[in-house]
Amino acid sequence: MAQGPRGFKLKNVVFIGPPGAGKGTQAAILDDMFSFCHVSTGDLLRAEIAKGSELGNKIKTVMDNGQLVSDDLVAELLKANIDLSSKQYIFDGFPRNVSQAEIFQEEIMDKSEYLAVLFDVDTDKLVDRIVNRRVSSDGAHIYNLKTNPPKVDGVCDVSGLPLVQRKDDTEEVVRNRMNVYLSETKPLVEYYKSKNKLKSVDADLNIDEVTKQIASFLNN
Ligand code: AP5
Ligand code: MG
Repeated sequence: MAQGPRGFKLKNVVFIGPPGAGKGTQAAILDDMFSFCHVSTGDLLRAEIAKGSELGNKIKTVMDNGQLVSDDLVAELLKANIDLSSKQYIFDGFPRNVSQAEIFQEEIMDKSEYLAVLFDVDTDKLVDRIVNRRVSSDGAHIYNLKTNPPKVDGVCDVSGLPLVQRKDDTEEVVRNRMNVYLSETKPLVEYYKSKNKLKSVDADLNIDEVTKQIASFLNN
């Protein structure tokens, strides 16, 4: 098993949690702390939209409504962007339902050691978190106007790029995304529990505390 820079035993990690639970925030921190690669299917899909291709336009319609993009398309996009033979990943936003988990299991996870981390969070707080989220225009850095503001209004501290709001971060779309999470994604909790792979973090805590909890799982 590969060792991280601070001696942590590293595994592939699957993040499961509702919109706004902090998956992207934690993946970015853990990427920096250890030798993971963060792969977010949401980011891959947004990159496809940014190309302005016909496929990107179709994806955009689905994402703007908070629905899930087709399993085959997402699995194909993911496979084209990972290399499990030499890297270890945090999978953020994939799998998103049990059928994706099954594709994932056979083709990817059975070949590696992994852990699923559930971001357990009070969903009543999430709309507020999300409508106050701002991201650098390349999507790489995440802020919050209330809990994690940039030093200079509207500008990314790290890259200097302007901060923007995601198109699907309106209250109405967030509520759709939350319903999709409950009906499609939440069943993954039982799926990974039954495989004895599930750990849960209290994602209502502040960002540092959540990082500590996840790091403790990686260490064991
Ligand atoms: P995706 O991009 O994956 O979005 P999501 O799952 O809805 O999650 P978010 O990115 O909104 O939230 P997050 O948990 O990453 O929170 P963050 O760290 O930013 O997917 C978008 C869309 O793509 C889907 O709706 C679907 O259409 C499509 N898609 C993606 N994957 C797919 C798949 N596999 N199959 C089919 N379709 C797919 O934090 C949120 C805010 O809270 C930030 O402002 C942050 O600063 C703040 N914050 C973070 N942690 C804390 C904390 N502990 N305390 C206080 N504030 C915090
Ligand atoms: Mg995210």
